[in-house]
Amino acid sequence: MTTATAERQGVLNRLIETEQERFLGLHPRSAEAWQEGKQHFLYGGPSHWMRRWAGGFPIYADEASGAHIRDIDGRDYIDFCLGDTGGMCGHAPEAVTEAATRQLKRGATMMLPTEDSLWVGAELSRRFGPKYWTLTTSATDANRAAIRISRMITGRRKVLVFSGCYHGGVEEAHVEIRDGRVGLRNMIHPNGIDHDAVSRVVEFNDVAALEAALAHGDVACVLAEPLMTNFGMIPVVSCFHQALRDLTRRAGTILIIDETHTLSCGPGGYTGDNGLEPDIFVAGKAIAGGIPAGIFGLSPEIAERLWTLVPHVNPRERQSAHLGFGGTLAGNALTIATMRAVLEKVLTPANYERMIATATRLASDISRLIEANHLPWHVAQIGARAEIMFMREPPRSGADVIAGRQPDLETLLHTFYMNEGILVTPFHTMLLMCPATSASDVERHTAVFAQFIDLIRRAGVI
Ligand SMILES: Cc1ncc(COP(=O)(O)O)c(C=O)c1O
Repeated sequence: MTTATAERQGVLNRLIETEQERFLGLHPRSAEAWQEGKQHFLYGGPSHWMRRWAGGFPIYADEASGAHIRDIDGRDYIDFCLGDTGGMCGHAPEAVTEAATRQLKRGATMMLPTEDSLWVGAELSRRFGPKYWTLTTSATDANRAAIRISRMITGRRKVLVFSGCYHGGVEEAHVEIRDGRVGLRNMIHPNGIDHDAVSRVVEFNDVAALEAALAHGDVACVLAEPLMTNFGMIPVVSCFHQALRDLTRRAGTILIIDETHTLSCGPGGYTGDNGLEPDIFVAGKAIAGGIPAGIFGLSPEIAERLWTLVPHVNPRERQSAHLGFGGTLAGNALTIATMRAVLEKVLTPANYERMIATATRLASDISRLIEANHLPWHVAQIGARAEIMFMREPPRSGADVIAGRQPDLETLLHTFYMNEGILVTPFHTMLLMCPATSASDVERHTAVFAQFIDLIRRAGVI
């Protein structure tokens, strides 16, 4: 480390400490609640993800409505995290709240389909393409089911993913390339899975590497986001999707497109809006308005292949084998009712138009400030989602992100934002719009981002 780099790091560390102290001072009740939570929860909160906020502990939510959250210290936040996409419909959207209340009074879960499911199934096909759907209770579960189906029908074991991906608690995807070597993803502890046997990983947008990796003939499926959203945003280069589709078809490999985050692109996700032809389509998070849900949809050809192994029409047999896809509560009446409300009344074309226009305004403000201050950063945008990237050029792969990412600058920005009443996703700097995100929310963000640039300029970080 050069002296200049060490000095800059020292300044950054001090700024983070100052902001974290300010955070503690502003959030005495949340700080106290966190101490108590640690007495009962393995990682402090009811989910280990809740530990990942940059202030040193999470704020405890009191209530949330639209694009705003109020915490137990009485502070208000513009929420661009939106539950890491689970809240993309906005908090407590009226249509979802009404549907949930109505259905809760009529029974939440019965191991029986309701008539709403007929509307939902038809709408999923209309939006996203695939013909045959199954619900799960999370996107992770939907991915697991999609992988299992791929293995069943191909008789192969390996799952190919792109370095820097995240597809939930799917062990096969917990691999990455770092310093040219394949290994467990950063922060994943060895846990008995033989990744050499079940995984293969290549860099995103690298057609030659993909071709070579598929040529072994042992890959059951490629599991991919249409563009990468979980390692900062990595845009897809033109022709990559065509190559991905051609190469997987040629190799007899199932193509699973995971749209859990990229549903923010538009009403049909990236797939529907760009005419992709996945064998299996997966989504989750926002799809039922915050009620836990995942979905996976199969093309007719893949469904036919599955049915030759596990028949679906046999009146004398009451079971479709013990598949266990999605869990006991999957597709329950409550989830179906809220999913219908989301698809019919919340994630509508008109609301997408509004969300995307808001994101465009936000991204252009960020871009203007980056340019005006001659900063080596950029802002990425895909539909209703924007991301501040502390690197000059958009990355093409996970390797580019590893080389360019500035985690301490992210920690400082996140803490500063929270102290100024703004939440962004804690894992990187993603800002998501919901239908209720307003022009004044965007203006406030722009002002706070300008203050942040000022802070680090005065401190000599830039
Ligand atoms: C692309 C993608 N797929 C799947 C998942 C898993 O979603 P869940 O944790 O809701 O199961 C995530 C979570 O961040 C994701 O980003």
